[in-house]
Amino acid sequence: MNPRIEHLVAVAAPLWAGEAEVVRTYWTSPKHTAQTDMLWLARQCFKEFWGSGVSKYDRGGVFLGVMKKLIETAPAIDITLDRTEVLDTLEGLKAEFSHYCAFADVYDEIRPAGTPKLNPHVLEAWPEEDALTALRYQHQDEHGAVGMRACKFTEGGYCTLFSEGMALAGKGGIEEKIAAACAMVYEDEFGHMLAGMTGITDAGLKDADWKLIETLVVAQLQKRIHMRNGQFGYPLAEARIQAIFRGDILPVAFDYAKAKLAA
Ligand SMILES: [Fe+2]
Ligand SMILES: [Fe+2]
Repeated sequence: MNPRIEHLVAVAAPLWAGEAEVVRTYWTSPKHTAQTDMLWLARQCFKEFWGSGVSKYDRGGVFLGVMKKLIETAPAIDITLDRTEVLDTLEGLKAEFSHYCAFADVYDEIRPAGTPKLNPHVLEAWPEEDALTALRYQHQDEHGAVGMRACKFTEGGYCTLFSEGMALAGKGGIEEKIAAACAMVYEDEFGHMLAGMTGITDAGLKDADWKLIETLVVAQLQKRIHMRNGQFGYPLAEARIQAIFRGDILPVAFDYAKAKLAA
């Protein structure tokens, strides 16, 4: 892998580990219940359906925003818009919608009898999710292509929600269903993250751009930890989060072998 990317990975690895710690702490805490599971699942469904900040097509949400853009730009296909770009967008749309379905299915399986099914229109963001989205839009507005590269790099946060969720396999009950949904999403999101990484090396960035990307990536990954912490009902205390920001954590070991296979 490109040494610049390796450096970015090294910078990101402790913060990815922080996001993993949020989720792991939630699952190992005795406080989690079917009720709290329903809350984080609905919030994850929000992210998969309405979430944004990673693509020039997705303002207005990963689903509707992308569909609107596809309709708007359809007349330009193979005139000013390459068909392969459209195909990539469609594949991304299908993947994200299947993630929405996977988590909505788990929600519907565990909700108590007589409570309403989930649908996209009842889903809501939470303050830390809004703060992450606002930061990503700000980085795109202020830094254009470089801001976008940073957003792509941080997409999915090394899939730690999904890898930690997969680790619940074998526990039975709700945990088993969560593990299966996470396993499906994990494979897709690992690919999205790698696409974001390869995109950076292809972009022909200058030294100053690499420095800037590093700053933007750190800011976004820190916001991601708060986003996950809010999503799961604050399993980590703010003091612990600040310690993680200072590097008081064992970084995740980036799986270069898997990255090579998937690339
Ligand atoms: Fe997704
Ligand atoms: Fe994705």
